[in-house]
Amino acid sequence: KKILVLISGSGSNLQAVIDKVHLSDNAGEVVAVISNKPDAFGLTRAQEAGIATDVVVSKGIAKREEYDALLGQAIDKYQPDLIVLAGFMRILTPDFVRRYAGKMLNIHPSLLPKYQGLHTHQRALDAGDEAHGASVHFVTEELDGGPVILQAKVPVFEGDTAEDLAARVLDQEHRIYPLAVQWFVAGRLQMQDGKALLDQQV
Ligand code: GRF
Repeated sequence: KKILVLISGSGSNLQAVIDKVHLSDNAGEVVAVISNKPDAFGLTRAQEAGIATDVVVSKGIAKREEYDALLGQAIDKYQPDLIVLAGFMRILTPDFVRRYAGKMLNIHPSLLPKYQGLHTHQRALDAGDEAHGASVHFVTEELDGGPVILQAKVPVFEGDTAEDLAARVLDQEHRIYPLAVQWFVAGRLQMQDGKALLDQQV
């Protein structure tokens, strides 16, 4: 199965998918990495793995629909079976999301449905939560609201800063994202009637 990854920054989740799926699972191949930021370090990670890269810059493009049309053209060149948003920091239009419904995943640094949106770690600290974590979900028109596939939980310790928490969560992201991608490329995972269905037979 062909996987296309969208990034905006460091690409540590991309690296986890490269290491644990692209290089280790014959069922899945990362065919391209596309960034909206030309200086995203994730582009270097892709190039070092011999994976094609494209940049579709968002700066200067006022209308979301316009950007998403350009992004869709870049994606469709590769005809991916799965689109993985990995630290991709743009909000996609409903039309774009509908085009790829059921084959687009995202990872969000919170235990959804808690803390949709940004600054999730600080919000968990401010709320005095004792547990926090990350969620892999299908992308739907609701921002960070699609059906959850897999979650990882981490403890919050006294004196944690948002950075401490982000690092603890990121470690778990690198564990659960490749797992969800492997399930999808193995044909075990699908979105049906707004729910994530996983074939439990192993
Ligand atoms: C991570 O915090 C992740 O939760 C969010 O984007 C951030 C950066 O991820 N989706 P990466 O290192 O660029 O994969």
